[in-house]
Amino acid sequence: MNLTILAGSSNRSLAEAVAGQLGTTLGSVGIYRFPDGELHLEVQQSIRGDDVFLVQSTSPPVDSNLLELLLLADACRRAGAARLTAVIPYFGYARQDRRATGREPVSARVVADLFQVSGLRRVVAVDLHSPVLEGFFWVPFEHLTAVPTLADTVRPIVTSKSVVVAPDLGAARLADTYAHLLHLPVAIVHKTRVSGEAVSVTGITGAVRGRAPIIVDDMISTGGTIEAATRALLSSGCLPDISVVATHAVLVGTALQRLSSLPVQRLIVSNSVEQPATLSPLIQTVSLGTLLAEAIGRLHRDESLEDLLVHR
Ligand code: R5P
Repeated sequence: MNLTILAGSSNRSLAEAVAGQLGTTLGSVGIYRFPDGELHLEVQQSIRGDDVFLVQSTSPPVDSNLLELLLLADACRRAGAARLTAVIPYFGYARQDRRATGREPVSARVVADLFQVSGLRRVVAVDLHSPVLEGFFWVPFEHLTAVPTLADTVRPIVTSKSVVVAPDLGAARLADTYAHLLHLPVAIVHKTRVSGEAVSVTGITGAVRGRAPIIVDDMISTGGTIEAATRALLSSGCLPDISVVATHAVLVGTALQRLSSLPVQRLIVSNSVEQPATLSPLIQTVSLGTLLAEAIGRLHRDESLEDLLVHR
């Protein structure tokens, strides 16, 4: 079966790198907007009988990128793709996996249903906010992790004074994973979310005084969580040598300015969300190209992904 890699417009550079590592080039897709704003796209080559992988992050603009992926899947299904897999480096809506208050949707579930209705028959994602998302899908779901690659990137700056910090309870297991890989102790910041942008800290568990924190999280969106954790760590006597590691650098609004105003020395992130050509010197980007190419190659050959998957 022929291997075909297609991409929407969310993260072309990563998709091209993945295709290149698999010894191919991206298939041709035309994406247009009608004058009334409706999205229209077309796969501009035959994919009949192919093993098709669609690479698309549902990063901002979230709804537009999500719709591109859904329409692309429908186009591929109707064009006779034999197998159709979505490769989603950053999965938007993953945080809305439950009803927090009252009359709300479980948006992640709605998105999962849309994927399946559009014809996708397998989903590959990276470091989801919560692994429960897999249960929203009846199609096979491969949950890859970039944590070993990110940990390798952090390792050179680790000293005997380093401590891995979870900026909230939700990141505690992730922090354990990094701590295990880096042979470091763990501390946990206790956070309460006040609004989409604001969070408050109620306490810290673990020793941070005189230590250099490595704050780890699945994603940075507004930077509110990292800012609150950093301020709490500084008030608890940590060294002003703080590193932040996260798989997904969504970095909306003033997130970067927010982080630049803190004694954060480095921000190590993956390229699951496409970053501007000129990056802040604070940011060190690790490519997901090798991980995704390896996963796609193995799925194409029906081989095990075991060592690439999240086991938290
Ligand atoms: C929440 O539990 C997540 O793991 C992140 O900590 C959070 O979503 C990051 O968002 P922000 O940067 O807006 O605080």
